[in-house]
Amino acid sequence: MFYGRSSVEQLNHEKFKAEVHRTLISKLDLEKLSLVNSGQARQAVAAMVNEIINSHRIPLSFGEQEKIQAELLDEVFGLGPLEPLLSDPRISDILVNDKDHVFIERDGILQQVNTSFRDDRHLLQIIDRIVSRVGRRVDESSPMVDARLPDGSRVNAIIPPLALDGPALSIRRFGTGPVGANQLVELKSVSPEMLEMLTAAVRARISILISGGTGAGKTTLLNILSQFIPDNERLITIEDAAELQLAQKNIVRLETRPPNVEGQGAVRQRQLLINSLRMRPDRIIIGEVRGEEAFDMLQAMNTGHEGSMTTIHANTPRDALSRLESMVAMTNFNLPERTVRQQMTSAISIIVQVSRMSDGTRKVVSISEITGMEENVISMQEIFSFNRKGIGPDGRVIGAFQPSRIRPKFLDQLRMSGIFLSPSLFEQTLEVN
Ligand SMILES: Nc1ncnc2c1ncn2[C@@H]1O[C@H](COP(=O)(O)OP(=O)(O)OP(=O)(O)O)[C@@H](O)[C@H]1O
Ligand SMILES: [Mg+2]
Repeated sequence: MFYGRSSVEQLNHEKFKAEVHRTLISKLDLEKLSLVNSGQARQAVAAMVNEIINSHRIPLSFGEQEKIQAELLDEVFGLGPLEPLLSDPRISDILVNDKDHVFIERDGILQQVNTSFRDDRHLLQIIDRIVSRVGRRVDESSPMVDARLPDGSRVNAIIPPLALDGPALSIRRFGTGPVGANQLVELKSVSPEMLEMLTAAVRARISILISGGTGAGKTTLLNILSQFIPDNERLITIEDAAELQLAQKNIVRLETRPPNVEGQGAVRQRQLLINSLRMRPDRIIIGEVRGEEAFDMLQAMNTGHEGSMTTIHANTPRDALSRLESMVAMTNFNLPERTVRQQMTSAISIIVQVSRMSDGTRKVVSISEITGMEENVISMQEIFSFNRKGIGPDGRVIGAFQPSRIRPKFLDQLRMSGIFLSPSLFEQTLEVN
């Protein structure tokens, strides 16, 4: 869907608005004003805008006049053209490629909107307003910035000379997706049986690796599964940009730090992980394993921090294993391949693969168990999968969550923790249509 009117009307609207804006700026000290943002200041500016519009003696409908007023208020006090997008709760991502190309993800579907910025300076100004609110900055000497907004949304901005077509901004909004296990089932992201098995595994301290592509729902699933960690355990979370929202009482949250302007003072995930081992954690949750911390994470999982969880960017469970292996190999190139694989086999029990479907839904497409090693190869068996059968008339994905009917080996481990799963759990198919 496009916001707004036909392009001719749009052009006139923009022109007139720019004109009113110019006059407004000449009358106001905008910099100071944006710091106040009290109701009174808004009212004063609104009145001033109306005055300017009326002085032009251009016949405008009431609606049109209100629209210009609202847009200019957003300009002065808010995030300009981004405001209407930010106020739509169905929009989960806002992606500004350059001043004229803005895409959004709404209800899981990526689409272009005809939001635009006056020029690069305008866009840069909005970016600056966003990042300076959280004490970060972006300019030619530090042209990339990652920030987390007070509401938990994640922001990345990258500007020239690194971004070739002008400043680019990506916002992943917080709180638009599922936050609880029930919602995952309602959204048909997972079958109740699969969820029951996963939550039992979490409670019994069986280590889980969540694998998936960009935006597939890895962090969301990690967050939801972590809610099932018993309250009497001590948790430490390690993230690049804190996204996890856990309700446990005994929790310490850690976040990495980017280098300062001189390129110094960075604190990486690996350093935080090593430090966290001295904090007596029962479990460590790493938002996403990306590199050198992989080795230390496996070690931790093998030495008393069972039940730790993380996510990894990969397209299949096999791919997840090979990526993890190369992460370890990159920092420990002397370690024999077989040793690395053995470590992985004993550290991780379950790989959950999540995927973003063509209809915008996210699904758990596979739950596999790592069962051991044969020769030099890690053996895995799939316990559940989503079998895609096609696409319905309305574009929705049709398929079924199916058990493989193989009983997982970790059932013994569950039993030792006093958790008994009904055998029927591994027999139920759930059709999705
Ligand atoms: N099961 C789901 N159903 C619908 N939307 C979902 C689901 N899970 C996640 N989402 C939405 O998908 C988007 C991406 O989710 P999330 O951040 O969990 O993915 P990710 O795989 O961790 O992404 P990234 O690769 O950027 O780290 C978010 O907007 C989230 O609200
Ligand atoms: Mg993520």
